[in-house]
Amino acid sequence: MTATAAPTTETTGENAPTEALRPHAEDAFAAELSALAAQDDRPRPARWKLSPWAVATYLLGGTLPDGTVISPKYVGPRRIVEVAVTTLATDRALLLLGVPGTAKTWVSEHLAAAVSGDSTLLVQGTAGTPEEAIRYGWNYAQLLAHGPSRDALVPSPVMRAMADGMTARVEELTRIPADVQDTLITILSEKTLPIPELGQEVQAVRGFNLIATANDRDRGVNDLSSALRRRFNTVVLPLPESVEAEVDIVSRRVDQIGRSLDLPAVPDGVDEIRRVVTVFRELRDGVTSDGRTKVKSPSGTLSTAEAISVVTNGLALSAHFGDGVLRPADVAAGILGAVVRDPAADRVVWQEYLEAVVRERDGWTDFYRACREVSA
Ligand SMILES: Nc1ncnc2c1ncn2[C@@H]1O[C@H](COP(=O)(O)OP(=O)(O)O)[C@@H](O)[C@H]1O
Ligand SMILES: [Mg+2]
Repeated sequence: MTATAAPTTETTGENAPTEALRPHAEDAFAAELSALAAQDDRPRPARWKLSPWAVATYLLGGTLPDGTVISPKYVGPRRIVEVAVTTLATDRALLLLGVPGTAKTWVSEHLAAAVSGDSTLLVQGTAGTPEEAIRYGWNYAQLLAHGPSRDALVPSPVMRAMADGMTARVEELTRIPADVQDTLITILSEKTLPIPELGQEVQAVRGFNLIATANDRDRGVNDLSSALRRRFNTVVLPLPESVEAEVDIVSRRVDQIGRSLDLPAVPDGVDEIRRVVTVFRELRDGVTSDGRTKVKSPSGTLSTAEAISVVTNGLALSAHFGDGVLRPADVAAGILGAVVRDPAADRVVWQEYLEAVVRERDGWTDFYRACREVSA
């Protein structure tokens, strides 16, 4: 048994949602969620805040009958979102699978926010995640003073979700050791969590379900047992299918993040965003976008998420030290940092790409120079 701290999820005054550095989805998009709830006349599964249709609209964006605009959170195939939402209304749990940076965590948070109004019932999976993080722990002071009782028990987020009919989240499921993962089998198949110390159990009430995320690349580290896999419907989140789609995702997110950091809007940034996305896609795919030149891929993952952070850093640079327009020099250092993870091998890959592709490309001279400057 491991002692677990009592849950401290209440938001204190000095930590009010508006001042939080990163508000939870249900707080950041509270207005959209309540507009959806008010105009949603479709049937809602037990304890759901919205109908499945409204949850999908929250994720994909749309315009409500009264004109309220719902911003898209996930940019990708509608069917993926529909299958994910529908799964949560069945007795199967949802497994979001994909390479890093494909918005698994992001989608999981927004699904929980839209379905249950609370995305915080979260277990972060690591190699050191103990069983207590999924089941329950004990408050040792209470336990020693009064013996085992419900008061001494510290419920895990999963246990709380079961008791209240809410959505629980498990991040990076496949990083959790196999025997700890298996605690989920009883929870997901019998919908109960036994507490042998008390001769009791917590039965999941209607509305309970679980969203897990797992990384494609981690496969083989701690693969899911087949018994557990059968409890999940797997939805694979793909990489953006085209440059346009990826530029769209990056622009939207950068705009949102920039506003939350009080960065000035950059009207002409789209050329630079397209450049970052193009470089990342070509290095990731191992071939230039015209299909003509093979390039080597670096060791790190150049995901959409990395592109978002390179552009956000570039924006901050141009706002604080530049002329407020996103320029090649503002993104060059960020790109280099993302591409060159292994100082030896990746540097060679980058130099080759720079000389063979970037240097030759029409309209990329400034960008080539900026990259040369930071690569030296
Ligand atoms: N298809 C997409 N639609 C919207 N945002 C995306 C998409 N792909 C990536 N992102 C953005 O990338 C960032 C990282 O995603 P994250 O959920 O942490 O990835 P993962 O958990 O798959 O590694 C998020 O800020 C998310 O907004
Ligand atoms: Mg993640």
